[in-house]
Amino acid sequence: TPVPVCDLVIAGASGDLAMRKLFPALVQRISEGVIPEASRIVGIVRSGETEDGLKDGAATRLKEQGLKSPDIDSFLQRLSYVRADVSDSATMGDLNARLDDPGRVRAFYLATPPDLFIPAARALKGAGLLEHDSRLILEKPLGRNLSSARAINDAVAEVLPEGRTYRIDHYLGKETVQNLLVLRFANSLFERSWSQRDIDHVQITVAETVGLEKRADYYDRVGALRDMVQNHVLQLLCLFAMEPPNTLDADAVRDEKVRVLRALRPIEGRDVLRYTVRGQYMAGSIAGRPVPGYADELGRDSGTETFTALRCEIDTWRWGGVPIYLRTGKRMGARCSEIAVTFKSVPHSIFRDNPEPNRLVIRVQPDDGVQLQFMMKVPGSGRLKLVPRTLDLRYDTAFGGRTPDAYERLLTDVIRGDQTLFMRRDEVEAAWGFVDPIIEGWNEFYATPHRYAAGSFGPSQAVGMIERDGRSWAEPE
Ligand code: BG6
Repeated sequence: TPVPVCDLVIAGASGDLAMRKLFPALVQRISEGVIPEASRIVGIVRSGETEDGLKDGAATRLKEQGLKSPDIDSFLQRLSYVRADVSDSATMGDLNARLDDPGRVRAFYLATPPDLFIPAARALKGAGLLEHDSRLILEKPLGRNLSSARAINDAVAEVLPEGRTYRIDHYLGKETVQNLLVLRFANSLFERSWSQRDIDHVQITVAETVGLEKRADYYDRVGALRDMVQNHVLQLLCLFAMEPPNTLDADAVRDEKVRVLRALRPIEGRDVLRYTVRGQYMAGSIAGRPVPGYADELGRDSGTETFTALRCEIDTWRWGGVPIYLRTGKRMGARCSEIAVTFKSVPHSIFRDNPEPNRLVIRVQPDDGVQLQFMMKVPGSGRLKLVPRTLDLRYDTAFGGRTPDAYERLLTDVIRGDQTLFMRRDEVEAAWGFVDPIIEGWNEFYATPHRYAAGSFGPSQAVGMIERDGRSWAEPE
């Protein structure tokens, strides 16, 4: 479906998310002609610089990111700024005057901290801006626990129906994450063995090499479990584990995802000590470059985790008894997000060498693709010798060209009115419902983070957790 003419209003237009993700995505989409000519982008700023100054600033940031000048110029032609306080409808006169064409799709992106979501939603409503078919886009994190997420969802529901509320989890916009749906449901080969019958266990790793990245204030209040697991990692798990939806309709897909979240066995009380690990990085080195520890970067000691690993189970017929290990962390040895599926061993080996189990690795980033590991005979005439070898399908070699960034896809989906790749209210709340007891358990049992050296793959306790089950973490390649 073509993208209709739109007015996209961004609150937090001089913030990091706008500069690093939203503006570049729009530059790209406009240069491809996907967003129609007449569309407008309106940035809300509180005070300070002139429009020219703001645009110059944006142009500089976009150039730094390698975007081309003519593309930046056509974006800037569509960009304007208005001064308003997004939590106060009395300041929205100019914005209201600017949005003078009710025939356009209108979307408001709250690229702001979540404490502004409730006042902003109310103020936009108060200013009469949420009429017609207006949409509201909320960036993560949606609250910091179940009750604050509910409060946000309730307040938003008062001013706007769920069908016009778009909660971003940018992992859903990644090409490979969508390809997970295709891999599972457009191929019969894997789906038949996608269960406890054939799968021994699953590992989901989202490893980053970056540290605090000037987000100390945000990150130290949040930590890895809330920042990454509550949303991105659990969303990957949902797409991996859900039952086949009966259509690709937004609600059909989201119904299945929420069932996975609800079937996750709670980890609570003392179990947090057994089935979860918290870590915090110390100084170390990544790719030969020394990096400081978290406390040094932050400038003080902190009990926040920058790494977490969990051992989960999904209590359903399909998944009963299959451990699912999740881990994510900052300042790890490599940037790598992947889902590694280990199949069961052969029931009886006729070879002297024990065959290793088959493993399917779905690489989300970088070098996105799919790898299937199986056993082969070493060529030669001696005794039968077995080795594992990998069938390696990479998207860049399969398709060439650039991979669009997640936000490119998500922004145009909002304008088109497609909610498939956005989190529905019940999903967000179910995910918090799983995360909250873990945090409570950590607090109750003083589970302070274990140290790990920057450049490693987390504390030894995370290795211990999986080795206790007689398994080991897949080495990222
Ligand atoms: C964000 C987190 O949601 O995702 C960040 O807040 C994290 O801490 C980022 O670095 C990772 O996104 P990506 O697309 O780089 O994997």
